[in-house]
Amino acid sequence: MFFRELNRGNCKTYLLASERTHTALIIDPIKERVDRYLAVLAYHGFTLEYVVETHTHADHRDGAWDLRELAGARVVMHQRAPAPRVDVHLEDGDRLAIGDVELTVLHTPGHTPDGMSLWAGDRVFTGDTLLVHATGRTDFAGGDPGAQYDSITRKLFALPDSTLVYPAHDYRGHTHSTIGEEKRANPRVAGRSREAYIELMNNLGLPLPEKIQEALQANQSAIDDDSVKFPSLAQLDQVRQLRPQEVNQRRSDTEAVVLLDVREPDEYRGELGHIPGSVLIPLRQLATRISELNCHKNKQIVAICRAGVRSTTAAAMLTGLGFEHVSNLEGGMIDWNEQKLPVER
Ligand SMILES: [Fe+2]
Repeated sequence: MFFRELNRGNCKTYLLASERTHTALIIDPIKERVDRYLAVLAYHGFTLEYVVETHTHADHRDGAWDLRELAGARVVMHQRAPAPRVDVHLEDGDRLAIGDVELTVLHTPGHTPDGMSLWAGDRVFTGDTLLVHATGRTDFAGGDPGAQYDSITRKLFALPDSTLVYPAHDYRGHTHSTIGEEKRANPRVAGRSREAYIELMNNLGLPLPEKIQEALQANQSAIDDDSVKFPSLAQLDQVRQLRPQEVNQRRSDTEAVVLLDVREPDEYRGELGHIPGSVLIPLRQLATRISELNCHKNKQIVAICRAGVRSTTAAAMLTGLGFEHVSNLEGGMIDWNEQKLPVER
C-alpha cells in the first residue's frame, strides 16, 4: 500500500493507494490544499476513487466537494453525516476497498455523532476521536464525552496493541502512535473511569476554533461557495428542537403547522423519503425564496433535513428574518425513519 500524510501541519490528510491498481483514496482533505493533492495524484499516476471524511469538521473547510467535482471521486461519510451530496454512506462494520487495500469502518462518535475510524489492518485512522496522547474535544453541538469514552475504550482499544494510530489532528509534532501506547499513556483516558472522563471533558474550557463560523455550517451543508450567509452559533443554540414524535403529533394540523424540508431535491425523493405534506425549499435557496413562506408567517414552521443539522441553520435563518414560531426536527429524517414514522418517496 502506498501511504503518505499530505499536509505536514496540524490538520492531517492521508493518501492511501493500491500500487497494483493505481487507485487511491484521500482521508480528510482541506479545501485550500486541493491543488496540491491533485498534483500528488497526477505525479504518481493515481486515480482518486474515494474521498473519506472521518467526520464533519469544524476547523477547516472540507476539500471533499472540490475533489468530487474536479477528480470525479466519490465522497464517503458515516450514515449520520448531515451533508448532502455524500455518495457513499457507511455504517459500523462496513468495508471500503481500493484495489487490494481494504478499510473497515468503526463508528466512533463522541467528537461528533458522525465520527468514524477506518481500520486498515496494521493502522487505524481515528479522526478526532482518539488523538496522539489526547482526544478530540466534545463540546461542539452533538459532542458526547460518554460516547467518545466508549468509542475509544471499547472499539479502538479492542484493536491489536501494535496497530498504528493516525489521527486527523496533532498540535505537538507527533506523526502517529500505537493503540498499545495510547492504552498505557493517553493522559485523558488511561486509568480513568467513564464518569471521570465525562467530568474532565465537560470542564476543558477550550476556546472555539478560529474558523468555526466559516467552516462548520459550510461543511454540514456542503455549501462552500459563500452563497449563503450563515447564522451565528449563538443563534443556532436558540433554535427550539422537537423530537420526531412531537412533530408527528402536530403535523395533522395543517392550518397551524408548515413542515419545511430544506434538503436537496434528490434527497427529498431519495432513500430516506420525506414527511407527507412537507414543502421543499433547499437551504441554498432559502433566502431568495423567502417570499414563498410569507403567507405562513403566523404558522408554526418545523424545519427538516437529513440529520437535523442543516435544518437548525434554516430555522435560525428564518428566526432572523422575522418568523416567530420556528422549530427544528431533531435528528432529521434519519431519526424519523428510525422511529418508523410515515414517509413518502
Ligand atoms: Fe474535528
